[in-house]
Amino acid sequence: MQTYLLSTVGDAPGIALHERAMPVAGPNDIVIRVMAASLNKRDLFIQAGTYPIPARPGVVPLSDGAGEVVAVGEKVTRFRVGDRVAGNYFARWKNGPLALDLFDQLGCTLDGMLAEFALLHEEWAVRVPEHLTWTEAATLPCAGVTAWNCLCGPVPVVAGQTVLTLGSGGVSLFALQFAKAMGARVIATTSSDDKGERLKALGADVVVNYRRDPEWGKAARAATGGAGADLVVETFGPDTIEQSMRAVGLHGQVMLLIARGVDKPHIEISSQAYGATMATLRRVFVGHRASFEAMNRAVAQAGLRPVIERVFPFAQAREAYRHFARGQSFGKVVISME
Ligand SMILES: NC(=O)c1ccc[n+]([C@@H]2O[C@H](COP(=O)([O-])OP(=O)(O)OC[C@H]3O[C@@H](n4cnc5c(N)ncnc54)[C@H](OP(=O)(O)O)[C@@H]3O)[C@@H](O)[C@H]2O)c1
Repeated sequence: MQTYLLSTVGDAPGIALHERAMPVAGPNDIVIRVMAASLNKRDLFIQAGTYPIPARPGVVPLSDGAGEVVAVGEKVTRFRVGDRVAGNYFARWKNGPLALDLFDQLGCTLDGMLAEFALLHEEWAVRVPEHLTWTEAATLPCAGVTAWNCLCGPVPVVAGQTVLTLGSGGVSLFALQFAKAMGARVIATTSSDDKGERLKALGADVVVNYRRDPEWGKAARAATGGAGADLVVETFGPDTIEQSMRAVGLHGQVMLLIARGVDKPHIEISSQAYGATMATLRRVFVGHRASFEAMNRAVAQAGLRPVIERVFPFAQAREAYRHFARGQSFGKVVISME
């Protein structure tokens, strides 16, 4: 079978196609015929050698992928041949708080999904919603679960509340779709009027152009009648935190996904911005398997379909990386093995 392997960390594009023996399921393993895999920002960091968790040299890249179970070990009870599954980002994190011994990630410390076949312990996988195509199902594990946990964390969003999303990256688009499905009002920011129209078509109630309006936090607050957003999905950390704090309501939540910015290296919040609120800053790191399964039930119930920008064939995975790295996508970039 064919598989990509991380070649030289730090050498773009850093993945190379190899021939490998077909995986054989051990007693508790499943073999998946991978049908599609998708890219996340972390895959670019891993390739560049800047991801905080060092990748295993020669690992099969990509946490996100979906496929059909084609073989099961004799002790497997969770799956049967023919099941449609995806791997969980933190393979060993099943539920409860994240702990140091649960940090293994697919496509980083463990072989991931950019291969024709993947070998996973049965505990590392979940069933994907039946109504999704393979390319749609392949987008769920990282961006989808992250957005879900931003909205459904210890203090979940309830209908009628206001959620603020930043930009039109993969996490923000899922957050917008989930927030609307939950009955929330959504304020979305973007740098592009064209993307603004697409955000509205996805359900955004208000769109603020952050490039045209550097004080977009105030504009977002004004769009709530001055009360502020109940929850901010903070996807850009140091670069945007000041405005996010200006946008959030008195007892709101800011779900902080990154601590290292492009323009600014550290999280800095002025005392005017933080002093004016009692909001909670909460970190999110993707999520556990139970949250992935809960999200899939909601996706199935709502008939929700992830937004896909472009699908590349398996042979063009390196082009897919390059396309995704330009950072202009509206929707997920997927690699198909079908
Ligand atoms: N902690 C976690 O669990 C976790 C999980 C997943 C992702 N992340 C991190 O979250 C970030 C977002 O990831 P992603 O995959 O959703 O998106 P992404 O691919 O990084 O998003 C690209 C989009 O971000 C928008 N953008 C860029 N700079 C911006 C800024 N200063 N203010 C507002 N929007 C800006 C742009 O939207 P417009 O074109 O609309 O302007 C751009 O199209 C990444 O840094 C990623 O590493 C963290």
